[in-house]
Amino acid sequence: MNASSMQSMSPSLQSILGPEALAAFEAPGPVARGLPGTAYTSEAFFALENERIFSASWVFAGFAHELAWTGDVMPVTVAGRPVLLVRDAEHRIRAFHNVCRHRCLKLVDAPGNTGRTIRCPYHAWTYGLDGALHVTPYFGGREPRAAPDGFDRTEHGLVPIRSGTWHDWIFVNLNGAAPPLEDFIAPLRRRLDGIDLTRMHHLATIDFGEVGANWKLLLENFIEPYHVQFVHSTTTEQPLADHYTIIEPGVVEPEVVEPGDAESGRTESVGNAPGDIGPGGIGPGRNARGSADPGGIESAGNAPGGTNLGGIGSAGNAPRASGPGGVDPAGSARRANEPGCLGCAVDLSGDAKRQDTLSADSRFLTLFPNFVFGLYLPDQIGVHLDLPLAPGRTLQRRAIYGLGPEPASSERAEQLAKLWRDVHREDHAICERLQQGRASEVAAGGGVLSPVWEDSVRSFQELVVKRLR
Ligand code: FES
Ligand SMILES: [Fe+2]
Repeated sequence: MNASSMQSMSPSLQSILGPEALAAFEAPGPVARGLPGTAYTSEAFFALENERIFSASWVFAGFAHELAWTGDVMPVTVAGRPVLLVRDAEHRIRAFHNVCRHRCLKLVDAPGNTGRTIRCPYHAWTYGLDGALHVTPYFGGREPRAAPDGFDRTEHGLVPIRSGTWHDWIFVNLNGAAPPLEDFIAPLRRRLDGIDLTRMHHLATIDFGEVGANWKLLLENFIEPYHVQFVHSTTTEQPLADHYTIIEPGVVEPEVVEPGDAESGRTESVGNAPGDIGPGGIGPGRNARGSADPGGIESAGNAPGGTNLGGIGSAGNAPRASGPGGVDPAGSARRANEPGCLGCAVDLSGDAKRQDTLSADSRFLTLFPNFVFGLYLPDQIGVHLDLPLAPGRTLQRRAIYGLGPEPASSERAEQLAKLWRDVHREDHAICERLQQGRASEVAAGGGVLSPVWEDSVRSFQELVVKRLR
């Protein structure tokens, strides 16, 4: 780190971590250091992450199978904001700011089905599933339909958030300015060449509730194989020597390329047939109108019933947001200014395959910041939903999918759910102790990272710093 680059750093990042901690993180040495403890404990650091990462990126926010029916709603927290995922009357998934336009009450506070409308519990303002405001009882006086002169309901619908669904996975982009969703997921799709996600069927979802650890610790733990043989000695049989890390170049610089260039072609070659989910079904709601693109992506950038606010409220109608038809016309002509995959993998050299432990050639892949995808060959997928609530609190759910022509038996589904509950508990215990260690001044130095097994962690942390500058 030289003086000029220090000067170019965001004062806010500098003031939160301190220039010495940043310099130590970036100093050359025999081994790299980790992020200082403050990055995991500070409210200010967390607020900066929410502003520059979770408001600005595509963020994994929910599972489509949990919104199977029209009127299903799922409140989530993204970047500290209340967000509402909704399955609308046309079976599309929309996202809104989960805030009533009357007095800004958090509109929905639990998952469920609201029928054809969403009614605020405070003064009964009622919205359509497209966000349009339909009813404002007595707002203008003693008559049920009375409205103040000049009050236009069409200007007070739920504020939409740009969203898109890829197979069972719902993404939102609060500021509306992230590259097209298809660009965001392209690095992962390229790594799944030969894997037909349309054959995926949902087996189980495990809700772990809150984990007492910073979101980064959960991600870092997922992409380093160093701990596996020690922490998961009874639940997995994946020797360290068979592992390797996966690091794509951190961030592809913005670059305009011609439509249909080689990269785009590769991406689409991985594409999956329309329809989010294959046989076995996630629910009746799957892409009733057909998927918008050959990669299983459906977008909902511009909710007709919604209106814009300044700031993040304009997200739903951002210039680069995908339209209701799905594909941003500029998408195929741009490479993503987003990081590629970070993760690790194991190709087992032995032949011990057991059903009650995880002993499979596997890929542990992530898309920054919070999409976590595990592929366990030949026939299993697991996806984690990690939603940060506070510096030391993260919500986590895991969906388990089979990959094959037939849905797995219920016994197999139960067996997998038990296995993954056990594996996650082992990881949670460790991640919560990692969090506790970061309360110590010893953690100010960041610890040290293996250049062989934790270079993926280092790349992840460099991305965090890069985005916060
Ligand atoms: S706050 Fe929602 S109707 Fe009054
Ligand atoms: Fe683990």
